[in-house]
Amino acid sequence: MKAAVLTEYNKVEWLDVEKPKCKPGEVLVKVNYGCICGSDQHIHKGEFHPRTSTPMIMGHEFGGVVAEVGEGVSGWDIGDKVAPDPIYWCGHCPACLKGHYPACTSLKLIGIDSNGGFTQYISLPPSMLYKVPAHIPDEHVALAEVLSIGCHAKNRAGLKKDDTVVIWGSGKVGLCILEAVRTVTDNTVFMIDILEPRLAVGLKYYDNIVAINALKENPVERIKKETEGKGVDVAFEAVGHAHEFEGGINPVRGCIQSIVGGGTVCVLGLGNDPAPIVFKELIWKEARIVTSRVSHGEFAEVIDHLKNGRLKPDALISRKMHGSQTQQAFEILENDPENNIKILLDFR
Ligand SMILES: NC(=O)c1ccc[n+]([C@@H]2O[C@H](COP(=O)([O-])OP(=O)(O)OC[C@H]3O[C@@H](n4cnc5c(N)ncnc54)[C@H](O)[C@@H]3O)[C@@H](O)[C@H]2O)c1
Ligand SMILES: [Zn+2]
Ligand SMILES: [Zn+2]
Repeated sequence: MKAAVLTEYNKVEWLDVEKPKCKPGEVLVKVNYGCICGSDQHIHKGEFHPRTSTPMIMGHEFGGVVAEVGEGVSGWDIGDKVAPDPIYWCGHCPACLKGHYPACTSLKLIGIDSNGGFTQYISLPPSMLYKVPAHIPDEHVALAEVLSIGCHAKNRAGLKKDDTVVIWGSGKVGLCILEAVRTVTDNTVFMIDILEPRLAVGLKYYDNIVAINALKENPVERIKKETEGKGVDVAFEAVGHAHEFEGGINPVRGCIQSIVGGGTVCVLGLGNDPAPIVFKELIWKEARIVTSRVSHGEFAEVIDHLKNGRLKPDALISRKMHGSQTQQAFEILENDPENNIKILLDFR
């Protein structure tokens, strides 16, 4: 079989590798599509070293079908469509013992901490697999992981039907939050970014979106104007490493300033710099600030929404390429982020 192997940093090669055996207690998954995540781009460049090393097979966003059922496994049949949840937690650290698995102190992901899904076959324990109805397109199955990040954020924020929302950052994560938000409310969603093509995605696929280019106007002032001075109920921060520009506001602080009294700010961006939070601005509103990390069983919710048509995964797909072109796909994402959200890799 073939796999997209990161043979050295910045270099993925389409190589013949040994097909994994279906281990007892596991199922062999034939991968249909994989999807490149921002973390994969960091791994590709060597920025996750020494957590990752080469050679390795990346890929924690992928979907496929069961090709073989291992000894002792029941409830799975050859041909079942599956979305693997790539996260594995230790189960015995203080966070795990509290049932707060996304905060596991040794949280690991297949495709980062072990070989992943940018390959034609992978053997996985059924506990990591969610069954997907056969009629859901293979391309959409590969997006279940990233969509679950948006759903988890929406759940962490406790979003309600009557809420208005701002999503600061209309990139991969911001757009997944938008998808999740739309499963709850059709109210106004303000989308903020500094790249017009990214703002265009939300506008193209959803109604009642107000797109704000932070380079051209002050998002907080615009939100206040559009909400009669009130602000929004929930603000999501999905920028992380913010591009600084003159007069630009820090995204976390912008979120705090955009919410109504009693509102909620949910932060996802994994920037390295401290955010200049003025706690008085939060306290005056007696507002809540929460964070959201990966997902916690939201795969089931995502699959339900894929079934009932409440999600629009096509909005996220910028292009499809064959698995043999994985290196080129990374180069496209690096050189033209503006026009590329998600690239799907076809491993069939
Ligand atoms: N918490 C989690 O579970 C989780 C999961 C995945 C990714 N992340 C993090 O979320 C962040 C976003 O990830 P992504 O994959 O969507 O990245 P991305 O690059 O696709 O999106 C970030 C967006 O922010 C925009 N932006 C940059 N500076 C801005 C500014 N000053 N004002 C407004 N918009 C600005 C960019 O143009 C871009 O569209 C990263 O920090 C990533 O590490 C968190
Ligand atoms: Zn990811
Ligand atoms: Zn743990």
